[in-house]
Amino acid sequence: MSEIILERRGAISLIRLNRPEKKNAVTRAMYASMAAALQQGDTDPDVRVHVLLGVPGAFSSGNDLADFMVIATGGSGGGEVFDFLKSLARAQKPIVSGVDGIAVGVGTTIHLHCDLTFATPRTEFRTPFVDLGLVPEAGSSLLAPAVLGRQRAFALLALGEGFSAERAQAAGLIYAVVAEDVLEDAVFAAAEAIAQKPPEALKIARDLMLGSRELLVTRIEEEAERFLERLKSDEARNAFVAFMSRKKAG
Ligand code: COA
Repeated sequence: MSEIILERRGAISLIRLNRPEKKNAVTRAMYASMAAALQQGDTDPDVRVHVLLGVPGAFSSGNDLADFMVIATGGSGGGEVFDFLKSLARAQKPIVSGVDGIAVGVGTTIHLHCDLTFATPRTEFRTPFVDLGLVPEAGSSLLAPAVLGRQRAFALLALGEGFSAERAQAAGLIYAVVAEDVLEDAVFAAAEAIAQKPPEALKIARDLMLGSRELLVTRIEEEAERFLERLKSDEARNAFVAFMSRKKAG
């Protein structure tokens, strides 16, 4: 079974992260496949809306730490991640996401690019970038202060504090909290409603709300530069080794 499942449901282009044994940690191949799906959906006139989902219990545990370790130890990588993030920032059609359970790192910051996010009560959003010796990514250093306010953004992005679904909704990070058994129904109902709107008016309305996407892309590039530097730092290497050896030690 593919680790990214792509499906068309009428006017909805569904992208599902499907690597449950690793809690949907995102590999380079998964980023590449998601970027291609976003770009394809954006250019297909029959697609009106993108939907992003994970699996029960895990939206995503963030970037695959083994892939980070490759870069940390002198290997190459990162291109697919940044290509995906830019496709997300430049998406031409609304994005609806549904989150159940784990939402770490990019599993949280992705939703700052979504138009409507639904999450279940057992969801926790968390970005332990600084604890990993890293810095915020995906334009979150720009988007989170704007969405959450500076202090909540600091708690999320710098302190690595977890945000429950309820807190995330109160803070404006997500749209609604819904029970696990109706999560996907709620996501698809919202996507259907979007798909019924006059597409030209909807696009103009969304573009007006989002403003210049190129400012955001520039920030993603600035973050990427710092992120790649940080991946090679002792702070980051030590954090990755600690994660990878925790089971052996425990
Ligand atoms: N990269 C690679 N593998 C990951 C991963 C990641 N980001 N997150 C989880 N996994 C793997 C685990 O190593 C484990 O693999 P194994 O069964 O082969 O040992 C499997 O997924 C299940 O994870 P586990 O830790 O047993 O699940 P859990 O429910 O106890 O905890 C998390 C889930 C997400 C809280 C925990 O795995 C975690 O903290 N992961 C790292 C998150 C992270 O720092 N992401 C990067 C953010 S920038």
